[in-house]
Amino acid sequence: MPRIRFRLNGVATDVDADPDHVLLDVLRGRLGLTGPHFGCGSGECGACRVIVSDHAVTACDTPLWAVKDKDVTTIEGLGSAERPHPLQRAFIAEQALQCGYCVSGILMSAAALLKQNPSPTEAEVRGALDRNLCRCGSHNRMVRAVLRAAHEMAAQ
Ligand code: FES
Repeated sequence: MPRIRFRLNGVATDVDADPDHVLLDVLRGRLGLTGPHFGCGSGECGACRVIVSDHAVTACDTPLWAVKDKDVTTIEGLGSAERPHPLQRAFIAEQALQCGYCVSGILMSAAALLKQNPSPTEAEVRGALDRNLCRCGSHNRMVRAVLRAAHEMAAQ
C-alpha cells in the first residue's frame, strides 16, 4: 500500500492507503476525526467540507492522492472548547445552529472564506455558503455569525 504524507491540523501525517480512497473515509475511519460528516457522499451538501491549502473542499469526493504534501484542516483543527475560533464563538452568540449536523462543514467554508477575504460583504458570505445545505433553515443566522466573526477578527 503506498504511503501518503500530508499535514493534518498542523501535524505531519502518514497514511498507508489506496491513493484513490476518499479523504472523508480516511479522516473518519482511519484517523478518528469525526468532525467532518457524511451527508450526501457526492459533493452536494457540504457536510464533509475541510480546508485543503486554504480552499474548502468536499472530503467525500476528494481522493487521498489529491492532498499529498498539502495542508488539511478539519473542524478539529479550527478551534477547541478551551480556545474556540472566532467563528465558533460567533455561531454560539448568534445561536446559528439547530441540529448541528451541517455546522462543521459550514464553519470550514466560512473559515476558508475569511482566510481569502477577511472583510466579506453579506453577499460574499452567502456565496461562500451557497454549497452548504442546512435543513434546519439556520442560514440567515449563520450569515450574521460569519459577519460578526469577521468584524471581531478585524478588530484584533
Ligand atoms: Fe460530502 Fe455531502 S457528504 S458534500
